[in-house]
Amino acid sequence: MTSVQTLCWVGDSPGGYVEMVEQTLLPLDYELLAVRTVPQMVDAIYRLAVRGAPAIGVAAAYGLMLGVQDAGGESANEVLRRTEDCATTLAAARPTAVNLFWALDRMKARAARDAAAGANGAGIVSGLFEEAHAIYHSDQDTCRRMGDIGADLIADGNTLLTHCNAGALATAGMGTALAPIYRAHEQGKRVAVYADETRPLLQGARITSWELMQAGIDVTLIADTAMARVMSEGRIDAVFVGSDRNARDADVCNKVGTYAVALAAQAHYVPFYVVAPLSTVDPSLDSGELIPIEERPAEEVTCGFGKRTAPEGVRVYNPAFDVTPARLVRGIVTEVGLIEHPTMAKMEAALRAGGVEFQSRPRTTTP
Ligand code: MRU
Repeated sequence: MTSVQTLCWVGDSPGGYVEMVEQTLLPLDYELLAVRTVPQMVDAIYRLAVRGAPAIGVAAAYGLMLGVQDAGGESANEVLRRTEDCATTLAAARPTAVNLFWALDRMKARAARDAAAGANGAGIVSGLFEEAHAIYHSDQDTCRRMGDIGADLIADGNTLLTHCNAGALATAGMGTALAPIYRAHEQGKRVAVYADETRPLLQGARITSWELMQAGIDVTLIADTAMARVMSEGRIDAVFVGSDRNARDADVCNKVGTYAVALAAQAHYVPFYVVAPLSTVDPSLDSGELIPIEERPAEEVTCGFGKRTAPEGVRVYNPAFDVTPARLVRGIVTEVGLIEHPTMAKMEAALRAGGVEFQSRPRTTTP
């Protein structure tokens, strides 16, 4: 089992701060970073010191706490104003992982509810502190539940392929895509993993292979470009990946390169599973085509990790995510169960089962 703690709140409130693994230094250095202000949290999220959709959500909730924890002596209205300002600042850190906005909306709703119930400034701040911890703890429970459900899809002796890092280091718990692997391993099943290196920022090479080795799981690192070859050799029984945002029609959006993995998996009759909590569903989007895709700096492609590997001045396009259409997805593992051959109707049923409020509308985009 993994024992990595990606991030946590240290101390009380006021006076507390967030401690997180500085993921940009892995695997060469394992360092803890203290984050004490909202701008520092925005920077940590943008630089990928903390990354992975659920972890970004937890970081945003605690980030908001950093901005309001000293406001307990202020009026309720002032605390609400600070909450709104901090949420706006944090929401600008990265655009794709919907967990960021989900966590901030949950924090703002808590503050509004407590204010409407007559809480003063101190009461609203302590409610926000409680809510941020609740987001942290529910992520841990959710990961474990998805791990249990997903482990049933893994047979003794299976070899799986994953892309990017959707492990403990992408969440507050045991991960999304890697959680079923950890649970299967705990259950005594023999399980091996091929990890795509995940160009350009190498989350697979730097983080997934490190995390799986720490947990004693058999892992083989491959270049992204070797993935289809590895499948054609019959080495892969199933693909497990995470997601940064699922649309209501069950299109999924994950680290760039995931779509290519899904296409290769379909061509080789390898089941492609997505493991993602309901907090990763954006019920307002009826198609993956509408998901905002982050574009990152050209230097990540031309000078990755400080060494120039492309000519000065070359034009670069660097989308950080891609969308895999629902038709390529064999199943989505959520905390309320496995959605097999997912469709909009099945996604909506899962949202209802999870108590998520949303408006069901006919699809407005072309399937
Ligand atoms: O850019 P990153 O490292 O934040 O991208 C992360 C991913 O794409 C993960 O696969 C995704 O967030 C699922 S996390 C459990």
